[in-house]
Amino acid sequence: TVGEVDFDTPLAIPPLAESTIDADGTRVFTLDAQAGTTEFARGVASETWGFDGAYLGPTLVAARGERVRVDVRNSLDVPTTVHWHGMHLPAEMDGGPHQMIEPDATWSPEWEVDQQAATLWYHPHPHGETESHVARGLAGLFLVQDEQEAALPLPREYGVDDVPVIVQDSGFSADGRREDPQQGFAGRLGDELIVNGTRGPFLEVHDELVRLRLLNASTARAYAFGWSDGRPIELIATDGGLLEASVELDRVMLSPGERAEVLVRVAPGERVTLQSVMTPELAGMNPSIAASNGITDAFDVLEVRAADRLDPAPEVPEQLADVPPVDTDDIATTRTFTLDGFQINGDQMAMDRVDETVTVDTTERWIVENTSQMPHSFHVHDVQFRIASIDGSPPPPELAGWKDTIFARPETRYELVLRFEDYADPDTPYMYHCHLLWHEDQGMMGQFAVVEPGQ
Ligand code: C2O
Ligand code: CU
Repeated sequence: TVGEVDFDTPLAIPPLAESTIDADGTRVFTLDAQAGTTEFARGVASETWGFDGAYLGPTLVAARGERVRVDVRNSLDVPTTVHWHGMHLPAEMDGGPHQMIEPDATWSPEWEVDQQAATLWYHPHPHGETESHVARGLAGLFLVQDEQEAALPLPREYGVDDVPVIVQDSGFSADGRREDPQQGFAGRLGDELIVNGTRGPFLEVHDELVRLRLLNASTARAYAFGWSDGRPIELIATDGGLLEASVELDRVMLSPGERAEVLVRVAPGERVTLQSVMTPELAGMNPSIAASNGITDAFDVLEVRAADRLDPAPEVPEQLADVPPVDTDDIATTRTFTLDGFQINGDQMAMDRVDETVTVDTTERWIVENTSQMPHSFHVHDVQFRIASIDGSPPPPELAGWKDTIFARPETRYELVLRFEDYADPDTPYMYHCHLLWHEDQGMMGQFAVVEPGQ
């Protein structure tokens, strides 16, 4: 059943983060993690956390080739971190569990943005506490721009025809106070959705063509997004950037941490609803296990309302980006990661143990095998990778582009190809983990260090 929603509140748009350029040309942002209150229902305050505000955080935008610094202040009364999910950067700047920010302290990571245009995001990563920090509201978008993307006639007016859609699930009391959902196997699955922190959101648009940047910022729930009238989802980009060409799908699936950019064409005055209808088939699950674990709940997500007069859209070309074929010729090392029972390769995360050592400037094959009956996910820091095969077959077009997080279906084997470049640091590891955040907190995470040859 589709959760019935009254779409009665305009979709909130996270503000664009302000920045300054310092003397050596570095673009400097500030973020302040703070506690506050949010009214998800009018007049009813819930205690929440946010960056520069009470819930979620501003959208950072930087161009490929720019040097950026973010001065992250922690105004909470507990330590936290800020991880740049999907960003290629030195391990010390990554914001994982080794880069804790104590209360009242400021952490200032700095790096050069060097990857293609993409919808990335940021969120805390304190070991054992990630789920609760993200669920309280600490998350935001980081958009990377580049010249190739800028040359395409795509919608790019932020908040107008290029719109962030940060999807989270939550529980609410009858009077509209935010409550932690019950703990299940997957984690805490809420029975209501909020988008950009808005309950019951509608988006009024004045353009014929609209780009939605979908982020699954939920801690545990996976979605299968589609349109209420059956029109196809026009997918143009995945985690790490544009696809070679747009793909038409009935539904686009996003597990926690994954992103998708989709285009929607609207007619004057029309209304269409983005929904999520997960099926056992899509989740690759036994139907009764899926239903009894709340995996296949269905939701109305966001109503798109077209104005009576719309600005016309230019034609979007077939070819969007150059996505080279997956190169398996030059594999230096093959590693296997078995996902089962909140463990990876039968082990739980230990802060003082580096599980894998990778040599910089090499390409590796990582076999990720979910041997359990339940879905997991797999996310790797530092790199955007490619899926070479799923159970021995080439991936479908929607999974053929750049990825940093995959939905790992039960009893399924994924072959990933990853290239490690630029940054080596034997003393500071990066993480790989299940992005079901409760699983991560339970220790379904490991560490890899990237080192110079011979280190
Ligand atoms: Cu989105 Cu290791 O994180
Ligand atoms: Cu998991």
